[in-house]
Amino acid sequence: MPLSATSDRDRDKQGPQPSLPKATFSFRCIGCGSISAAVAQDFRCSQCNNLLEITDPSWKSPSLSAATLKSSWRERRSSNAALDLSGVWRFRELLPVPESEQHVVTLREGNTPLYELPLSSRITGVSRLYAKHQGMNPTGSFKDTGMTVASTFARQAGYQWVACASTGNTSASMAAYAARGGMRSLVLVPEGKISWSKLSQALDYGALTCQLRTDFDGCLRLLQELVRRAPVYQLNSINPFRLEGQKTLAIELLEQLDWQPPDHIIVPGGNLGNSSAIGKALLEMRDIGLILRLPKLSVVQAEGANALVRTLREAEGKRLISVQAETRATAIRIGNPASWEKAVKVIQATGGACEQVSEVEIAQAKAEIGAEGIGCEPASAVTLAGLKKLVRQGFVKPDETVVLVLTGNLLKDPDFTMEFHRGDLFQDTPVHGTPREREDNLLNPLRHPPIVLDATLNAVIQTLERAEKSDPPHPNAESNT
Ligand code: F0G
Repeated sequence: MPLSATSDRDRDKQGPQPSLPKATFSFRCIGCGSISAAVAQDFRCSQCNNLLEITDPSWKSPSLSAATLKSSWRERRSSNAALDLSGVWRFRELLPVPESEQHVVTLREGNTPLYELPLSSRITGVSRLYAKHQGMNPTGSFKDTGMTVASTFARQAGYQWVACASTGNTSASMAAYAARGGMRSLVLVPEGKISWSKLSQALDYGALTCQLRTDFDGCLRLLQELVRRAPVYQLNSINPFRLEGQKTLAIELLEQLDWQPPDHIIVPGGNLGNSSAIGKALLEMRDIGLILRLPKLSVVQAEGANALVRTLREAEGKRLISVQAETRATAIRIGNPASWEKAVKVIQATGGACEQVSEVEIAQAKAEIGAEGIGCEPASAVTLAGLKKLVRQGFVKPDETVVLVLTGNLLKDPDFTMEFHRGDLFQDTPVHGTPREREDNLLNPLRHPPIVLDATLNAVIQTLERAEKSDPPHPNAESNT
């Protein structure tokens, strides 16, 4: 079944839709540049098999005045219309839009907070440090911003089944949006390598969930074959509609910063869809005149899943160097990232960096973000760990403004958090290469294991007194007064 950008389905059923602009987008191959109005189910170029991106001449039209866009986006924040309540569709002038508002599947995604990070600011020496917390989305990760757009187009095209390969968050998000949109969902996940928390979301939202005896890369390969054989709509980030929705992270961020671009945006890298989407948004916002200067977009990976780092260092970004991925940050346990070429382009276009961090550095950074009262999942914490390295290298200066993109909620991986605090995180998985003594020196001050006590007032008071004597005051105490 071809996925047409202007499908005929339901066209006759719809009345006038004043709130949506007319769809004028097409698909452009990132390799050979060929443009098409419709795509095949594998979302690959029919000429050269490379990935596609969505392009729309109206995004460059002089009729899109930056000032008008800014004021109508701001105005929509006080509207109660379903499209305006979504932190994605509020920015619909820069998105591919469906034919009718009735196709839109939304859970009021986006609208995520931008937090200051006083503790991490002191640790890194970067005075203006923020976290854009995408873990505050409806299913707890940034995937929702892309899923609302892609599932809308699946519904418009009349699909009954949607499918994805996932390290967990995509499947949770896809299953939720499929359920909201009245579609069935098929999830392919690597057996034993995703958190129960994410898997349980997919189950509750009603997905047909298959745990395959392979890794994420194996699941994705299989999915690509499946969509050529069966009428299922692919919702991985190879689907360019996903990336269009994920662009809104950057648009909303700039709005929150009153359109003053930060110097750096730092994002975790797995399959590399998100970094590509953020970079695309930055370039488009610059072209339209919404921002006058580009932030540097940097990508951070786990050392054990560092395909992009190696691709840039060893092959100058010209060919992908795949790796056998291994990391406790299971969301980014990916060795053969699909969107590597898109990511290379946006890192180079914005002058960003690409770094890798160790397992211990990830665990430490995650606990530090937790100590801010914010928290995130392990994959998100690579951003803070990476920032420390980029500051040491002089790439990020202490007087620059830095935004870390926290991609997933703390509650996404409770096993990691519990094992961290109990001190047995790396017991069975010696993947980090840091000596135990050094690991303990770095991590012990951040560990807060639960204490089992008799249920007496005395026992609790004694524990409180011991903590009062031995623990330092909360590092943020100063800034609270
Ligand atoms: N952070 C989290 C929490 C993720 O779930 C992912 C990817 C990433 C970062 C990396 O983003 O792939 O766009 O570079 N998770 C996917 C999934 C692969 O299946 O949930 P990316």
